[in-house]
Amino acid sequence: MRILSGIQPSGALHLGNYFGMMKPSIELQEQGEAFYFIADYHSMTSLFDAEQRRRNTHEVALDFLACGLDPKRAVFFRQSDVPEVCELTWILGTLTPMGLLERCHSFKDKAARGIPVNSGLFTYPVLMAADILIYDSNVVPVGQDQKQHVEVTRDIAIKFNQAYGDTFVIPEPRIRGDVAKVPGIDGEKMSKSYGNTIEIFGSEKTLRKKVMSIKMDSRPPEEPKPDADQNLAVQLLRVINPEAGATFEEQLRTGGLGYGDLKKRLFEAYWEYFAKAREKRAELEANPDYVNQVLADGAAKARTKARDVLQRARKACGLE
Ligand code: ADP
Ligand code: TRP
Repeated sequence: MRILSGIQPSGALHLGNYFGMMKPSIELQEQGEAFYFIADYHSMTSLFDAEQRRRNTHEVALDFLACGLDPKRAVFFRQSDVPEVCELTWILGTLTPMGLLERCHSFKDKAARGIPVNSGLFTYPVLMAADILIYDSNVVPVGQDQKQHVEVTRDIAIKFNQAYGDTFVIPEPRIRGDVAKVPGIDGEKMSKSYGNTIEIFGSEKTLRKKVMSIKMDSRPPEEPKPDADQNLAVQLLRVINPEAGATFEEQLRTGGLGYGDLKKRLFEAYWEYFAKAREKRAELEANPDYVNQVLADGAAKARTKARDVLQRARKACGLE
C-alpha cells in the first residue's frame, strides 16, 4: 500500500494540521510505503516571498520530523525536487473539465473572501492530482477540507484511464472522523488563513496567552453547564487528550469548574503533549545538514518512482 500526503509551507503548523493530517500520516507510516512531501509549488499560489518560502519549507521539515515522521520508514521530500509533476499536471489538465474546478470549495472560498485568484490557484487541484497519481498512491490521509480535492483526483484518473487505457491507480482519501475539523480559538475551523491557530511549536508565553484568550460566556463557575460539550476548550482538550476532555466536560456540566481553570488545564495538556517533540525539534534545529540530507535522499527516491509513472502516462497518451 502506498500512502501519500503533502502540506504547504505557507506558515507555522498548528493543531489542526497536526491532528488532521500529520498525526494520522505518522501513524500510517508503519502500515505501508509512505511518501510525504512539502508542497512548495502549491504555496506559490498564495505566498509571494521567496525567502519566506525557503524558511517555511525548512520549518515544516523540522516540525514534521520533530513530530515523529521517520525518514527510515517514510520517503520525505520537497515537491519541487520532482519537477515531473508539472508535466503530469499539464497532461491531466487537458482532461479536466472547467466545471469540475469551478465547483472546488477551496478556490470558491478564497474568491469569496476577495483574495485575487490567479490561474495557479484555480488549477491547484490538478497539480494535487498529479502529486497523488505520479506515485501510484492508494491512500491519502488529509483533513476534511481536502476531501474534495482527492475526489477530483479520482475523477481525473478515471477519465484518463477511460481515454487512454488503464494507467493510474485510483486513490482513496483517509479522513479521521474525530479530528476532521479541529476548531480554532474563535470556534471556526483552525486555519493559518483565519488567524485563529494554536501552533505546535513556539514560545510558551505567546502560546499560553493564545490559549487563555479563548472567549467564554459570562456564566459563573458554580452554574451547571448542560451544553459543556459545545465548550471550545473542552473540544480542544478532547482532541489532545480524550480522557482529560471527558473529565473536564463532566465537571463543567455539573458546575464548579471555572473557565480560567479549564483553559489552564487545556494549556498544560497541550504543552505536555508536545514536550518530547519540542526537544527533538531543538536537536534538529542545530543540525540543518541532517535535515537537508533527509530531503535530498527522499527526493531521489520519489523522483525514481515519478519518472516511471510519468513515462507510463506519456506512452499511454501517445507522447512516446
Ligand atoms: P490551513 O487551513 O491552516 O492553511 P492547510 O490547508 O495547509 O491548512 O492544511 C494542511 C493539512 O492539514 C490538510 O490535510 C488539512 O486538511 C489539514 N488541516 C488543516 N486545518 C485543519 C483543521 N482545523 N482540522 C483538521 N485538519 C486540518
Ligand atoms: N492541498 C494540500 C493542502 O493544502 C496540500 C497538498 C498538495 C496535498 N498536494 C497534495 C495533500 C497531495 C495530499 C495529497 O493541505
